[in-house]
Amino acid sequence: MNGIILFGHFHRGPIMTSPATVALDVGRSALKVSYRETSTGRLCQNLIPSAVIPAFKITDATEAERAAKDTVTVHGQPYFVGTTALMQARESDNALTDEWVYSNEYLALLTHGLNQSGAQNPLLMLGLPSRAARLHRQKLKDHVIEHFGLDAKVMPQPMGIYYSHMLNDIGVPTPGRVLSRESWAAVDVGRYSTDLILILDGVWIEQVSESCAGVVTAVDHLRRSLRDDGVELDFTEAEAALRTKSLRWYGKQRDISPLVDKAIEHLTNDITSTVTRLLSDYVRKLDGVLVGGGGAQFVADAFRARWPHVVIPEDIRFAVAEGMRRSGEAHIRAQLKKRSA
Ligand SMILES: Nc1ncnc2c1ncn2[C@@H]1O[C@H](COP(=O)(O)OP(=O)(O)OP(=O)(O)O)[C@@H](O)[C@H]1O
Ligand SMILES: [Mg+2]
Repeated sequence: MNGIILFGHFHRGPIMTSPATVALDVGRSALKVSYRETSTGRLCQNLIPSAVIPAFKITDATEAERAAKDTVTVHGQPYFVGTTALMQARESDNALTDEWVYSNEYLALLTHGLNQSGAQNPLLMLGLPSRAARLHRQKLKDHVIEHFGLDAKVMPQPMGIYYSHMLNDIGVPTPGRVLSRESWAAVDVGRYSTDLILILDGVWIEQVSESCAGVVTAVDHLRRSLRDDGVELDFTEAEAALRTKSLRWYGKQRDISPLVDKAIEHLTNDITSTVTRLLSDYVRKLDGVLVGGGGAQFVADAFRARWPHVVIPEDIRFAVAEGMRRSGEAHIRAQLKKRSA
């Protein structure tokens, strides 16, 4: 049997065989991969910048060797992905549309993440923005199954955050948790979109799924206000400035906190008004509101001020991938149990 992982309750290590799970949270800023190394059972997380460009010949030997490791082929076309693509491309150009998931670039990222995991015949766990998940969950699943010949499950991205909170690292509910008796909202603040889902008594309420502004909104706001001050920043610089609140300006650090605070307020208002509108009938009855994704750091304070039961996962950026992996392990365990019954 391929992709054997062993694990159990009393050992950190193995007692039961099961195929591997590889969770691929393909975001517009980065691909987050979460998996258990097949040979050791060790948990691994890789972050790969979401940059993909058609490959070309690199003449420098050292650079060419590095680029070879970051090259994958999709439908006969070789692509540079990750760090190599980021360095070789002049401007990264990830189309910000829902259709992106059917592109060769998207498949190139999945292939690279999968190759890095080294897993044989794994179950693939994938996420989609909440609104897209309602519309094309099945279509993406079929597309990926056809391309890789592997089993796949697709869920709305915030569902990963939910599972990262509810399940332990082998996919078993954490002590005291009964999924069917708990109700949660989960919010994933990403670069392209912020996504929300509602789970009532363990059931995903599809009608209350929504996607709204992502961190890109704050980046654009900051770039516009800096431009009014005569400062032109590219996207990457402006996104970094959101976190540092300063920029390097002719050899000096320049404090831009007031402009960053305004840009973040703009993003936060958009997200909190969407969440308020969608959850108005539910929020006070929920066990909590989970807020993850790399952008959670920007909105956490505003969320906490409004909703006292906000829960921020420990590793905000990997919460989606890690939760999807845990859910995959739970799914495999349930299947094995069914088969042996
Ligand atoms: N260490 C970091 N390096 C770069 N960006 C970071 C970092 N930590 C947080 N961020 C910020 O978090 C944002 C969202 O990150 P995340 O990885 O969750 O987005 P994504 O999954 O790529 O986007 P989406 O889900 O919308 O497609 C980034 O746009 C960036 O502004
Ligand atoms: Mg994301």
